[in-house]
Order: sequence, then C-alpha cells, then structure tokens
Amino acid sequence: MQQAFHDRHALQCGFCTPGMIMAAVDLLAENPDPTDAEIREGLEGNLCRCTGYQNIVRAVHDAARSPREVGR
Ligand code: FES
Repeated sequence: MQQAFHDRHALQCGFCTPGMIMAAVDLLAENPDPTDAEIREGLEGNLCRCTGYQNIVRAVHDAARSPREVGR
C-alpha cells in the first residue's frame, strides 16, 4: 500500500497519509476488489486537506492488484 501511494503520488503534505493507508489496508482486508465508490466510502472518515482523492483511489486500486496485498 505504501508503494502504491508513492507510485501514484497519492500524498502531498502527508498529513492524512497514515490514516488513509490504515483505512485502505483495512478496506482491502474486507473487500479485496473494491469499486471507486467503495474505496471512497471506506476512506470517508479521513479528510485530505490537499484534496488528492483521485490519486488515493488509484493507489488503492493498484494495491488491490498487487501480490503483496493479496492473501493476507
Ligand atoms: S496529503 Fe495533505 S492532507 Fe492529504
């Protein structure tokens, strides 16, 4: 997940990043192939002041397809 956030430039100032990553890992544990809407719903408790939501959603999709995130 951290690599996906890095690769997709899913963080700017980094203030929200720990919470986003923890919520995203939990989301994939429950739902390994989420839709965009399900990702946004799963992360909705975390606010990004830098408004990088689109790249965050892309990063979670990438992580969902990553062998590292599968089979946990
Ligand atoms: S990256 Fe700055 S608050 Fe999300």
